[in-house]
Amino acid sequence: MSHHYIHIEDPETLELREAEDLSCAADEVVIDVAYAGINRADVLQRMGFYPPPEDASPVMGLEVSGTIRIAGERSGFVTGERVCALVHGGGYATQAKAKAECTLRVPAAIDMKVAACLPEAFLTVWYNVVVRAGLEPGETLLVHGGTSGIGNIAVQLGKSMNCRVIATAGSADKCQRLADIGADLSLNYNEAPLTEQCAQHGVLGGVDVVLDMVGGDFEQFNLECLAVDGRIACIGLMRGGQATIDLTQLLMKRATLTGSTLRRLTHEEKARCFRDVDEQLMPLVESGQMRPLMDKTFELKDALEAQTYMSSGAHAGKLLLRCA
Ligand SMILES: NC(=O)c1ccc[n+]([C@@H]2O[C@H](COP(=O)([O-])OP(=O)(O)OC[C@H]3O[C@@H](n4cnc5c(N)ncnc54)[C@H](OP(=O)(O)O)[C@@H]3O)[C@@H](O)[C@H]2O)c1
Repeated sequence: MSHHYIHIEDPETLELREAEDLSCAADEVVIDVAYAGINRADVLQRMGFYPPPEDASPVMGLEVSGTIRIAGERSGFVTGERVCALVHGGGYATQAKAKAECTLRVPAAIDMKVAACLPEAFLTVWYNVVVRAGLEPGETLLVHGGTSGIGNIAVQLGKSMNCRVIATAGSADKCQRLADIGADLSLNYNEAPLTEQCAQHGVLGGVDVVLDMVGGDFEQFNLECLAVDGRIACIGLMRGGQATIDLTQLLMKRATLTGSTLRRLTHEEKARCFRDVDEQLMPLVESGQMRPLMDKTFELKDALEAQTYMSSGAHAGKLLLRCA
């Protein structure tokens, strides 16, 4: 038997290739992949800007949903269980290997498409918004890129914690999507400077936590919108990795500026977060209180088309590959 995966021939050429069935260690599982989530990091990897860590699969793809094909003897899973998992590369394939501690059981009420939207967003949002930035119930959370695969989960997490949620997007349509998923205030960054818009709405200086995936020239706005003791968690650099900021604001507000990348977290840290999201977030999806925003699903062989669509920025919500 064999399985299929997407090989990067060069940045403009992706090929569907065949390889032997996967096997796994005792603390791992092999998953028959139903859907793979597409992430910005995959696009960067294809372009050669984000080489995978040395111990990772060179195949793109960081998250999958599917059923257990092989359960390692210490994995705690059994063959046939419905799961979703954060994988150490290798998600763009019909079979993928995952650490048991980075694999979640998927309740029957959650379909496999929805399940594929969860691992990367759950972990990134939980680790940055809750663990690092310490969002507390009732605080104000600002999410840049609110309609992204990551951002929409952050918006909904904030609402589930009874926080006031402000989110940004680049068009009126996307702002409407933000209102639909519960954002209290959605700001179109192409309409007027964000500082002005926040001042108009009386929220400038009132934000406790910013989840920032854009950086660049928005970094100064992030500091301006913060309340005293506010925290900024930086996870992406869509507007660039260089920023000029007024450090006076950092001092006066006792602000915290932090950042992380999920791929470089230890397995132990990921495992800790996985236990938390399984307890705290999965039930919200199961009950329908949290509904991941989804855009299009592409066939595995059309991975390049899917990534080109992501690069266009036209999407609102998660993009998936159908791998089954
Ligand atoms: N550090 C980590 O561990 C980690 C983990 C996962 C993801 N990430 C990062 O999180 C971000 C979202 O990932 P994703 O996979 O969900 O990608 P995605 O769906 O393509 O989201 C990208 C988001 O960035 C916004 N954006 C793009 N260009 C912008 C600009 N010039 N100004 C303001 N906003 C802009 C887009 O909003 P509009 O379309 O409304 O402009 C969109 O919502 C990426 O930057 C990714 O690298 C980081």
